[in-house]
Amino acid sequence: MPKVVVVYLSTSGNTKAMADAIVEGVQSRNVEAKAMNFNEARIEELKDADAIAIGSSTFYYKMLPPMEKFIESLEKAKIKAKIGAAFGSYGWSGEAPVMIAEKMRGLGISIIDPVLRVQYQPSEKDLEECKRLGKDIAVKLKPKYVRPGSEPKSKDAGMMKEIKMGEGGH
Ligand SMILES: Cc1cc2nc3c(=O)[nH]c(=O)nc-3n(C[C@H](O)[C@H](O)[C@H](O)COP(=O)(O)O)c2cc1C
Repeated sequence: MPKVVVVYLSTSGNTKAMADAIVEGVQSRNVEAKAMNFNEARIEELKDADAIAIGSSTFYYKMLPPMEKFIESLEKAKIKAKIGAAFGSYGWSGEAPVMIAEKMRGLGISIIDPVLRVQYQPSEKDLEECKRLGKDIAVKLKPKYVRPGSEPKSKDAGMMKEIKMGEGGH
C-alpha cells in the first residue's frame, strides 16, 4: 500500500506529468508513492494513504465536475491522511488547485502551501518544482517512518522537528 497517493485529472497530459514528477520526488526520499488517474483510483486504496496529493487542470474557471465528485466521495470514506497537496496545470486563471485545496482542508487535511500551478506543459524547471513538492510531502511524513535518532542532519531535520511539535503547521 503506497503511503502517498497522487490522484490526477488531466486531459492532455500536463497535470499527469506533474503527478508523475511529484511521485518521483516522494520516492527519492524512500517513501512509497503511486500516481493514479482519478477514474482508476479506488477509495479503499486512498483510505490508508498517509498523504494524498490531488491535481486537476482548470476548465471554465474550476476543476472538472468528475474531480469535484471524486473529492466529495472522499468525504464519505474515512480517510486517514492528514497531509496533502493540491496541484494542476492551467492556461490563464488556474482556479482548480485552489479549489481542490479548499475542499481537502474541509476534510481535515493539512495542505502544503502554496498550491502548485504550472502554466500549460510543465518545463524541466516546473518538473523540478513538482519533485520538490514530492520531497516536501515525504519529509512531512518522515517522523512517522524514521526511527528516532536516525533523522538526516539537513534542513529537513528542522522541518521534522517542527512537524513533531506542531503536527503539520499549515
Ligand atoms: C475548453 C477549455 C477550457 C479551459 N478553461 C480554462 C480556464 O478557465 N482557466 C484556465 O486557467 N485554463 C483553462 N484551460 C486551459 C487548460 O487548463 C490547460 O490547457 C491545461 O494545461 C490542461 O492540462 P491537462 O492536460 O492536465 O488537462 C482550458 C482549456 C480548454 C481546452
